[in-house]
Order: sequence, then structure tokens, then C-alpha cells
Amino acid sequence: MAAPFDLTRLLPADHFDAALRHDVRTGLTADPKWLPPKWFYDARGSELFEQITRLPEYYPTRAERAILTARAAEAAAATRARTLVELGSGSSEKTRLLLDALRDLGTLESYVPVDVSESALREAGDALAAEYPGLAVHALVSDFTATLALPPTRGPRLVAFLGGTLGNLLPDERAAFLAALRRELEPGDSLLVGTDLVKDPAVLVAAYDDAAGVTAAFDRNVLHVVNRGLDADFDPDAFAHVAHWNAANEWIEMRLRSLREQTVKIRDLDLAVPFAEGEELRTEVSAKFRRRGITAELAAAGLELVHWWTDPEERFGLSLATPADRDGAARDAAAPGGDS
Ligand code: SAH
Ligand code: TRP
Repeated sequence: MAAPFDLTRLLPADHFDAALRHDVRTGLTADPKWLPPKWFYDARGSELFEQITRLPEYYPTRAERAILTARAAEAAAATRARTLVELGSGSSEKTRLLLDALRDLGTLESYVPVDVSESALREAGDALAAEYPGLAVHALVSDFTATLALPPTRGPRLVAFLGGTLGNLLPDERAAFLAALRRELEPGDSLLVGTDLVKDPAVLVAAYDDAAGVTAAFDRNVLHVVNRGLDADFDPDAFAHVAHWNAANEWIEMRLRSLREQTVKIRDLDLAVPFAEGEELRTEVSAKFRRRGITAELAAAGLELVHWWTDPEERFGLSLATPADRDGAARDAAAPGGDS
């Protein structure tokens, strides 16, 4: 007997088409050129990302899984969530650790995976509905940077944002996103956010430029998405994948470098985009964090860090935060030395 699984497209039918047109026009006529990272994730992009998570160089998935293995029961006990919402859920693979812990605690009723990738949601949702009898799985196809309406399922809700995806937003976007999320949270709800941590740049660069070339294929996949979506004629083989450590901003930048002078036609936009030889198109940033920085970003959005967990090698951090209670903050300030 299969548990219920349903999928809702939260945004109007033409949203993604209009957003792709807008983003491609804005990004490819800018100097320097750039594209937002959500366009990586068509069905092939989601599949390539799953391959990335298994690469020897890509440690973040394993590090975050190690933290969840050690701490999921503690996170479950701290939140007693009835609803687990997950933003950018992808394959929901690590999520099973949270679902298991909440099920074992006896509070879990529903799981709400949110992703731009409908194919990833369907695959994960089908598998989860079979594995967790009695769990209601309500998948939402949505863009969490465009709308953040959380479902009206029973609280307390735990919102998980794993995989370091927060770091794929630029600082301003991060602040806006966290503030919008804070407005959706009610007393008793919590946020669990995974962030990759600053470390040796050689380790970081290797994680985004693997020897087998899977990340390069993933990076170029955005060009296939633009070709298909807007009738463009990018030759993906005419671009090289570059992973660059930006030390000033403490983020990795993924770029596609034009191997020759060329002009790309975006027919649906009636746009010709010239590339000089060696010119780079930024496709993604992946910010790396420190405990102090993420604590401050959460606090600025009205979220109070209540737990900070890392793997033993301190490669990755998991923050559990709750809506800050202003009276509580004032009380703590008046009585220093309290529990942190
Ligand atoms: N949480 C998974 C996947 C991380 S990859 C993990 O930790 O392994 C990032 C995921 O976020 C992808 O599944 C991608 O489709 C999704 N995503 C990226 N940008 C998004 C956006 N703006 N709105 C919703 N989902 C997004
Ligand atoms: N959230 C992932 C990260 O920042 C996304 C990602 C991993 C990624 N590898 C990538 C994005 C390569 C673009 C290119 O680690």
C-alpha cells in the first residue's frame, strides 16, 4: 500500500520560460557575463549533480552526511517536527537520515520537498513514498528565490536547506532569502542549513574541477539548457570549464571560458552574443563560510543559531536556527554567561 505522493507546480505555467528569457538576456548582455545557477538543473543536470556527489574530490556530500549521521537524532529531538520541508531537495538522499530520526521520535507526518527540477522531485518522491509508509509526501516544483510560501501542513516545521546551496546565492540574495524565510517561520519552527567551510584552496578547487570531468559536463549543461529553451546555438565544446578560488570573497566561481572568438545566436531573444577568445561567463558561485559569518547572517535575518555541528575534520558546518525571540535576546544580553 503506497503512501500518498503528490506534486504541485507552485508557479504559473509560463514562469520558468519567462524567467529563463529574462535571466539569459540580463546575464549575457552584462559585462562580465553571467548566468544564475538554477538553470543547471534540467533532468540531465540533476543526474550529473548526483554523479558529482559521488566523486572522490567532492567531499561536501560525504562530510554533510557524516554530520547528519551523528546529529540527526539530536536535531529531531530539538525540533520535534511534524513537517519536514526541504529546499533544493534534489535526490533527497541525505534527507533519509532526518526522516528516519523524526519517524523514530514519532513526530513525523509529512515531507515537503521543494525543487526546480521536476524530474528529481518525481524520482525522489516515488522512492520515498514506497520507503516510508504513512508519510505524506507533497512535492513542490518551485523557485525558492522567487516564492517561499510554505505549505499549510501542521507544525512544528523543520526547514532543511542542505548541500551548501545557500552558498550558491550571492550575499545580497542570501540576505533577502533568509529574511523571506524568517517571515514564513512561526514560533516553534526551525531551520537546518548546511554550509561548506573555508579551507585549503587546492582542496576546494579540486572539488569543483574533478579529474573525470563530470563537473565540467555539469557546467556546460547550462549551455544545452539555453540552446533547448531559447533556440540558441551554443557549441558547448567551444567552452572550457574553469573553477576559480576568489580569496577576497571566499567563494569558488565556476566559469565557462570561450576557447575562440565566436558569436552565439539566441534566436528566441533575437540576440547575438559576442565572445572574445578567453572571455569567461560566470555560471555559479559557491561561497565558503566560517561559523562567525553564518551566525551573523542568520542573526541579521532574525534567526538565532541554537546548534552548530561540523564533521570531525571541520570541512562542513550544519547550523540549526530558530526564529529569534527579541525578549529572549534582551534577556540573554542582560545576563551574560548563559547557555549558548
Ligand atoms: N540537497 C541536495 C541537492 C543539492 S544541489 C544535496 O544536498 O545533495 C541543489 C539543488 O537545488 C538541486 O536539486 C537544484 O535543482 C535545486 N535548486 C537550485 N536552485 C533552485 C531554486 N532557485 N529553487 C528551487 N530549487 C533550486
Ligand atoms: N551546492 C553545490 C555546491 O556549491 C552545487 C555544485 C556542486 C555545483 N558542484 C558544482 C555547481 C559545480 C556548479 C558547478 O557545492
